[in-house]
Amino acid sequence: MKVLGIETSCDECAAAVVDEGRVLSNVVATQIPIHTPYQGVVPELASRTHAVWIYRVVKEALDKAAVTVEEVEGVAATAFPGLLGSLLVGLHFAKAFAWARKLPFIAVDHLLAHLYASRLAGDDAALTAEYPYLGLLVSGGHSVICRVENFDTVTVLGTTIDDAAGEAFDKVAKFYGFGYPGGQAIDLLARGGNSAAYKFPLPNLYKPGKDGKDHRYDVSYSGLKTAVINQREQFRCGSVNSPAPHELSQSEKADIAASFQKTAIDIILRAAVRAAEDYNLSTVVAGGGVAANSYLRGQVKNFPHLNFVFPPLEYCGDNGAMVAGIGEQYLRRGETSSFEASASARIKSLKRKYP
Ligand code: KG4
Ligand code: ZN
Repeated sequence: MKVLGIETSCDECAAAVVDEGRVLSNVVATQIPIHTPYQGVVPELASRTHAVWIYRVVKEALDKAAVTVEEVEGVAATAFPGLLGSLLVGLHFAKAFAWARKLPFIAVDHLLAHLYASRLAGDDAALTAEYPYLGLLVSGGHSVICRVENFDTVTVLGTTIDDAAGEAFDKVAKFYGFGYPGGQAIDLLARGGNSAAYKFPLPNLYKPGKDGKDHRYDVSYSGLKTAVINQREQFRCGSVNSPAPHELSQSEKADIAASFQKTAIDIILRAAVRAAEDYNLSTVVAGGGVAANSYLRGQVKNFPHLNFVFPPLEYCGDNGAMVAGIGEQYLRRGETSSFEASASARIKSLKRKYP
């Protein structure tokens, strides 16, 4: 079934065509240059830019797939969570396309789409592991450790209690001026650094929280972020190891990036491994922008009893292929959304379970 998928939840204007799980095209027009002067996504600029770009992006996706408008058999779009103004552009373009062509339409959850990305067949073979498995969703807006029951159902076992993993990368990079977007910049800078140069704290969420619930699979990034940011004061004011105040050298920057990255990834990996072991799930499937991180991908060899699966890099960050792919699953089951389906900034469909 040839499904057009549209993704505009944040700053990537993306469309793709998938047929029987195979990606025929995957076009991602990034707005990074537009938001770089602000070192962060400006929602109003993002939605306006989507409105200008969406037609060309969809047309390019159809052209690259060599699929005509008449040959499209279904349309899927991200409806939540994300930036409301941005979501509305892609969602309504998709509705208009489906309405004009009298096609089935499905509104898709962005987080489920990220978790589905490993099952897409592009140049590499797709994941065919049986459900359930452990899902590790690490993006700019979310950090979720979950039991993936099926493509449309996950049970959340842990999540962040403050910042998302990608958000921590972005904030640290912004503070130190490492580059934008922060995740990729830190990943590259850290390759030349010593990850043992600075010791940053790992949060301890193993004890029941104030709510009396067990947060053992939750993660937290605010303590790490504060520690890394405070470290710069030590360069400015001087410290025991480095008494004279000074601006950071290139090698100190690389060491900070590597030490932060190590701790940030250890935090999420520790929680994911703990959940996988406790729930007897031997396959761990990652998704989201941070799943592209090279240190994370290298670290998983330390857990040989678990089978880690990462999507190809082009399906880690926001893309239309994951939306078309999961959309095809719903549509093949005969499930569609009404044209009144609305966009939402919030997570809608994930249920939480405490140990
Ligand atoms: O999935 P995504 O494209 O958008 C959201 O749904 O949020 O994820 C974007 C996030 C950003 O925070 C970005 O800095 C991070 O993914 N990211 C990375 C890497 N590439 C992108 N973080 C760490 N290492 C990377 N290589
Ligand atoms: Zn995303």
